[in-house]
Amino acid sequence: MSVIVRSFAKINLGLRIGPSRPDGFHQLLTVYQTIGLHDVLRISVKRGSGIEIQCDDPRVPRDESNTCFRIAEKVMNALRAQGRVVIEIDKRLPVQGGLGGASANAVATLLGLERALRKPLSAAEKLRISEEVGSDLPLFLIGGAILGVGRGEQVFPLPDFPAMRCVVVTPEVGVSTPKAFAEWDRIQGKLTVLSVSDRMNELGRELSAWLSELYSSAPSGLVARRGRAGNPLLALVRAGIENDFEEVVFPEYPELGEAKRALMRAGAKYASLSGSGSTLYGLFGARPAALLAVTRLRKAGWAAQVTSTLTRVAYWRRVYGS
Ligand code: C5P
Repeated sequence: MSVIVRSFAKINLGLRIGPSRPDGFHQLLTVYQTIGLHDVLRISVKRGSGIEIQCDDPRVPRDESNTCFRIAEKVMNALRAQGRVVIEIDKRLPVQGGLGGASANAVATLLGLERALRKPLSAAEKLRISEEVGSDLPLFLIGGAILGVGRGEQVFPLPDFPAMRCVVVTPEVGVSTPKAFAEWDRIQGKLTVLSVSDRMNELGRELSAWLSELYSSAPSGLVARRGRAGNPLLALVRAGIENDFEEVVFPEYPELGEAKRALMRAGAKYASLSGSGSTLYGLFGARPAALLAVTRLRKAGWAAQVTSTLTRVAYWRRVYGS
């Protein structure tokens, strides 16, 4: 039996890098938001054994360095299942793009295998397997707007805000996340542990203030409505959140800083690097404004496309395809 799964991308609405930990990871505080751009995976379990990855994109590895391969092995073991796993990837998202493409592909593989084998894993097992494969996999087990803490693997659903238009710019460069973290450590070397923690606490307080504002205007619902501060997503980004990776990635790839400025000039209400890049996104109030921005950006030579933020409900409605 084979199952089709849409593997949606994420953006980061603010990302603060904290102290590096004894295990080599960094503490993180971020808000993840799923968006409508996606890859499509077909997961099949056939007679035999082994794991086979099929993909036309030469940049996608077919061996155990692929997150899909690693998670498939773990899922088959956890379910004590037998068979030959075939994972066909229709790659539409950029590789090494900061949109969590490879991580989303892995979670899609897990979800597809559960369905193909008709054997569910417990929520706790799915979380454990996902976080073993990478820090930004667990968010895709929740979807919508999600608070990420720890090394990014501890995930907490935030209230779903109304969808907003989102213009995504995908420059042709790939940014290595471990290298970006290493560069961050280098430039932050002079900061004391205390001031690094202070910076984390600062974003934590901004997020708390934003949530308390949301809930004092919509105390009973899980869906954040337009309160006094207007669109809650814009209220969040206007709280001054930023992505720390911009500080190390923009000096190394000046064209990415230029792309962010181009998004702002094209009318974005907020623009930022996603993850460690190289993708940038801009948030727009209305579809015509976003479409106009795409036209302007493309004229200026940028690869740009329009999508929307994806609420949790919309995410789960669309994950399993046909
Ligand atoms: O968890 P993931 O496989 O995505 O991490 C890739 C690399 O990025 C890690 O090996 C580590 O070097 C770096 N990283 C980090 N702190 C995090 C997440 C990732 O230093 N919170």
